[in-house]
Amino acid sequence: MGVGIIGIGKYVPDKVLTNFDLEKLVDTSDEWIRTRTGIEERRIADDQTNTSDMAYEAAKQALEDAGLTGQDLDLILVATVTPDYGFPSVASLIQGKLQATKAAAMDISAACAGFIYGMVTAKQFIETNVYKNILVVGVEKLSKITNWEDRNTAVLFGDAASAAVIGKVSEGKGILSFELGSDGTKAKELFQDGPHIYMNGREVFKFAVRQMGDSSVNVVEKAGLAKEDIDHLIPHQANIRIMEAARERLELPEEKMIKTVHKYGNTSSSSIPLALCDAVESGRIKDNDLLVLVGFGGGLTWGALTLRWGK
Ligand code: UT7
Repeated sequence: MGVGIIGIGKYVPDKVLTNFDLEKLVDTSDEWIRTRTGIEERRIADDQTNTSDMAYEAAKQALEDAGLTGQDLDLILVATVTPDYGFPSVASLIQGKLQATKAAAMDISAACAGFIYGMVTAKQFIETNVYKNILVVGVEKLSKITNWEDRNTAVLFGDAASAAVIGKVSEGKGILSFELGSDGTKAKELFQDGPHIYMNGREVFKFAVRQMGDSSVNVVEKAGLAKEDIDHLIPHQANIRIMEAARERLELPEEKMIKTVHKYGNTSSSSIPLALCDAVESGRIKDNDLLVLVGFGGGLTWGALTLRWGK
């Protein structure tokens, strides 16, 4: 048996913040943001909606898609860097709301690589027959830690939640290979300093281009596959220029890369599953398609995996 995604869901807030709206907040322009990042708009949660509220909505959808209820869950893993509280975890908060009385719960802090970390962690528990159904959520309310006076970061981020139920799938499907990593010597290139995000954009950019390319190639090799076998590349949606570099490294045509950065911006832990969910909903991803998921983020961390889609 394989271990893969048996249900998927997402939640994005209704409020759209466009580049033109940002022109009124900081010294920037739609033209600069579009050409340097590929972002056109992002979603922002209202004051009443916290991280766990968004996570709960996405989780409900994923469970419904899997044909399960909270009662069927053995473990809840929430990847986030913007939890409601220092503690308890967002995972515990949604465990209560989902009435997932049998499930253990914990958060994962690996920034934009968090969802990949979550999927790989879930895989270990299922493969060893310890647990059967695991909910992995990637969720961020980045708007609450964004410095709205800093044009270097304010234009990049958005709020969203995405969720996947991980369980057993047919042999040959699911996660085929993975890679996780971290370089803590670069911790201060991207971190939360007091209430706000601080980022050395150029350094993170250089790291991301190298790491996204290397990790993608590595997981394809580890799975014993070739670049030509890839049907869809789903990179962390941070910046279209970084995403394009990863695509070129894999020598993939444009249509094989899933892009949502233009409409949601960088939603950190939620970004990869959000792009995946969009592509599944639109019918772009078909049974048996080979996907490469790859991300990088604060830590600095990175993670990649190959996934054969389907149950
Ligand atoms: O999830 C992981 C999170 N982080 C990332 O993925 C970020 C990785 N880095 C990036 O995506 C890019 O480095 C940025 C989009 C953040 C910046 O793009 P860049 O092409 O690396 O620009 P830069 O930092 O080299 O700045 C170029 C110029 C600077 O002006 P000067 O010094 O050349 O006069 C900046 O001050 O652009 C200026 N600038 C802006 N101008 C208008 C920086 N931000 C803005 C802005 N609007 N929002």
